[in-house]
Amino acid sequence: MSTKHSSTETVIGIDIGGTGIKGGIVRLETGEMVGERFRIDTPQPSTPQAVAKVVKEIVDELMTRKHAPAADAPVGITFPAIISHGIARSAANVDKSWIDADVDKIFSEELGRDVQVMNDADAAGLAEARYGAGKGVKGTVLVITLGTGIGSAFIYNGKLIPNAELGHLEIDGFDAESKASASARERDGLSWEEYAGRLQRYFSHVEFLFSPELFIIGGGISKRSEDYLPALKLRAKIIPAQLANNAGIVGGALQAAVHFKITK
Ligand code: BGC
Repeated sequence: MSTKHSSTETVIGIDIGGTGIKGGIVRLETGEMVGERFRIDTPQPSTPQAVAKVVKEIVDELMTRKHAPAADAPVGITFPAIISHGIARSAANVDKSWIDADVDKIFSEELGRDVQVMNDADAAGLAEARYGAGKGVKGTVLVITLGTGIGSAFIYNGKLIPNAELGHLEIDGFDAESKASASARERDGLSWEEYAGRLQRYFSHVEFLFSPELFIIGGGISKRSEDYLPALKLRAKIIPAQLANNAGIVGGALQAAVHFKITK
């Protein structure tokens, strides 16, 4: 598809998660979402065909809105797996048929427009580093998203080092996200205090490995950070994401705009 696009002030970002697929229109100058986001449950099974259909439905809805981007503007898409050159290389919380699928091709064909695909937590990290809680912070910043799984973005001096998979560290014999994700808290019926205990174990280990200056917590439960963050004892500062659960949408849109040279 063409790499030349009409100028546009907004770009659509779509954030694909294990539980929900969310989209929004992002104003490139400020990184703000314009209007409400639009969400549809992730289809089960979450096969490439089924997910692509939902993504198309969301883009079609957003394109009817007043601040919709130019008709040929690229779409930024975030995906909950390792994404290398547009190809998925893992599938922890989506259908296994995504492994080795050409995610870029699947979505650009379904939408009939250019797309830029990246890992969901990397997108959230990029947005927080540019517009949010990590803006201007030097050194290592780790953005950890607590959702269906645990996602991570490794930022050094404002630059993203993609595809860190710190949700899959093995701790006490378990895959970390199976114990400390937001969905593990719900599954095991944990109180906030009990959940904070699991997060303490997880974050102490990550801190030991990487000595970040700052942890930023993303995902849906970043809104409830008062319930568990004050209990955590770490050397690094630990704060909730400023863009809350919209960071993925914003980061995905931003990356597409940069990739297709609509913005710097
Ligand atoms: C996946 C990551 C993803 C995270 C959050 C993990 O299970 O391996 O790629 O970023 O979930 O969705």
